[in-house]
This record gives sequence, C-alpha cells and structure tokens, in this order.
Amino acid sequence: AHRVDNEYDYLFKIVLIGDSGVGKSNILSRFTRNEFCLESKSTIGVEFATRTLQVEGKTIKAQIWDTAGQERWLSELRNHADSNIVIMMVGNKSDLNHLRSVQEEEGQALAEKEGLSFLETSALEALNVEKAFQTILSDIH
Ligand code: GTP
Ligand code: MG
Repeated sequence: AHRVDNEYDYLFKIVLIGDSGVGKSNILSRFTRNEFCLESKSTIGVEFATRTLQVEGKTIKAQIWDTAGQERWLSELRNHADSNIVIMMVGNKSDLNHLRSVQEEEGQALAEKEGLSFLETSALEALNVEKAFQTILSDIH
C-alpha cells in the first residue's frame, strides 16, 4: 500500500512549558526543522509545529505546542490537566556544562521523586532532542 503524507496511526499533542529562556522554541525548531537560532526572540502567545515520525512501528503525528515562558509548576499542571497526560522533565543547554547550577544527578533525583522521565538535552548540539521526543511519544503510546 502507498502511504500518503497525511496518513498516520495516532495524533499526539505535546506542550512545551518552562521558564522563559530555557530553550523551548529551539527544542521545537531542532526537532521539527533541524534548525537552531542563537538570537531567538521570546515567544508571544502560543506557536505550534508538527512532525510525523515512526515510534515503535507506528506512524505518529506529533503536534507540538510551544508556549511563552511563564513560571508554571508541576502541581498546577497536575491539578488542571487531564489525568492521563504524560509528563516528562527535560534539562536543556547541557552544552553549557561549565555554567551548570543543577547537577544531572539532582535533576534525575527530582524526576524520580515526581515519577517522571528525565533527559538532559542540547538544542544547540542536537543532543538528546530526538531521544526526548521519542521517549515521551513512546510513553504516551
Ligand atoms: P521563551 O519563548 O521566552 O519562553 O523562551 P524559550 O524557552 O523559547 O527559549 P529560546 O528557545 O528562545 O532560547 C533562549 C536562548 O537560549 C536563545 O538565545 C537560544 O539560542 C538559547 N538556547 C536554546 N537552547 C540552547 C541550548 O541547548 N544551548 C545553548 N547554549 N543555548 C541555547
Ligand atoms: Mg520561546
């Protein structure tokens, strides 16, 4: 059978939240367009992009929403979102290792305490970005 562009097995929505400047928009552009911008502007409102990819043998269309950075907390997300959402924690800018204020083990420990998957990524170096989306998409699926 011939698979046309707009065919997919599942459509999953992913929302990127986190403080302003942590790199949400660049994680999105790296994943959907393989682009990185050193001087990206702060997001106003909400933007989205999609990418269709294979996850565990299924064709998944990922619709990724990029929010403007605001301080939002895990409890707020858990209180207001549907109870069957999947949450993952990502520590970006792992390339700036010399400037780190949180050790990877501390991030890992927090994620374990909260029952979340955790990865450190670098949108700049394209490190673990693909893996982070693969992880959450297979957790959803
Ligand atoms: P808001 O839209 O304000 O919420 O910010 P954001 O989370 O979308 O951050 P954005 O992607 O705009 O990135 C902010 C700055 O960090 C930009 O100068 C990016 O070039 C830079 N940046 C993003 N990801 C990385 C990364 O992995 N490593 C490094 N060194 N810089 C990064
Ligand atoms: Mg942004």
